[in-house]
Amino acid sequence: MPCRLRNSQLLPTIDDLDEAYGIKGRRVILRVDMNSPVDPKTKRVIDDSRIRAHASTVRELVERGAAVVVLSHQGRPGDSDFTTLREHASILERYAGVSVDFIDDVIGPAARERIASLEPGRVLVLDNTRLISEEIIEATPERHAQSIFVQRLAPLADYYVNDAFATAHRSQPSIVGFPLLLPSAVGRVMERELEALSKLYTAESKPRVFVLGGGKVHDTLRILEHLHANKAVDRVLTAGLVAELFMLAKGIDIGEQNRRFLETKGITALVPRARRLLLRGLPLETPVDFVTLVDGEVRVEPVGSIKGLIRDIGPQTVKMYTEIMREARLIVLRGPAGVVEDPRFREGSRALVKAAVESGAYVIIGGGHLNVIAAELGLAGRPNLHISTGGGALLLFLAGEELPGIRALLESARKFFPQLADSR
Ligand code: 3PG
Repeated sequence: MPCRLRNSQLLPTIDDLDEAYGIKGRRVILRVDMNSPVDPKTKRVIDDSRIRAHASTVRELVERGAAVVVLSHQGRPGDSDFTTLREHASILERYAGVSVDFIDDVIGPAARERIASLEPGRVLVLDNTRLISEEIIEATPERHAQSIFVQRLAPLADYYVNDAFATAHRSQPSIVGFPLLLPSAVGRVMERELEALSKLYTAESKPRVFVLGGGKVHDTLRILEHLHANKAVDRVLTAGLVAELFMLAKGIDIGEQNRRFLETKGITALVPRARRLLLRGLPLETPVDFVTLVDGEVRVEPVGSIKGLIRDIGPQTVKMYTEIMREARLIVLRGPAGVVEDPRFREGSRALVKAAVESGAYVIIGGGHLNVIAAELGLAGRPNLHISTGGGALLLFLAGEELPGIRALLESARKFFPQLADSR
């Protein structure tokens, strides 16, 4: 059965690929998103839920007799979570229950030789795709189909399967370059996400409250612009650096240290865009108090007299946000409210996740640290909770945007599965 998108367009699944072309004995490039929170010092994976999610797709391809070449990124060059995929490969092996090899190369001769001789039923994880500089360039599928990255690997494979829902908002070679050249399909994670989210996000789900924290401020601002333009959000509750940006945009004092920190991160340059959103009527709340660090001492400081370094939202903010969430029909949470790696600044995020799930609304949690918190609170199996593998991709999808990764698969389907276009 093909995967049906909310606009009724159809994407081929692994079943369609097998039926139309036959998977047994063929070589498949499988793009997953194993990008996980890692400990900044040890570089060990802290939360392996994304890797675990992809294990079933890997196992299924192996069981259907394919040789599977796994691609994923981890972090961004220069960031503390930018690291190799060796540990990811062994975690994948444990969850998939099939033997998984790793090579510390992506497109070089060593990787290409191993791929060319990969036997059916075997899995090879290549190293972090972002070790290749082309992979961090955003460009069209046509251009990326001609990239050295894609040109080196595509001739070695028969098919391309994209299971990386969480990276579908990036127009990068490993996401959009292969579908134009190879018959392509969605993997099981991508399929589950697209089907669940398309069903769930309906007109009846109003009011829709988005709780946005974390450090990816550029991304979150772009997402808010889409959400607002597409009238896809009724209330926004901010935390983390996102909150600090909007406080500056509202003219609220966040204390000298925090303002300087935002400046070094290039975030103050975003203030005019944030202000424009507020002027256009985006209903957005900012915290009323914070947990801060003043000379090594943890304090709760109300907005208006912040002296310390902001580390988490404070108890009054939690109370205010909890009340707003009680009115919601749908709550989307993305990004932690504080520096959750430090147990002293985890409480805000824990309280928001708990309040959201207990509000009775349908809750979608997008990616990373909040997944860990939901599991820690024993909420993971709740029927009103969808834990998505996506972060930015999830929010852009909910904003009604067509994601480049999905667009490339649709384009590929027109070329390699014309029968699907006819059966809509
Ligand atoms: C994510 O975690 O949102 C995806 O893995 C994409 O990562 P990126 O924001 O570094 O492109």
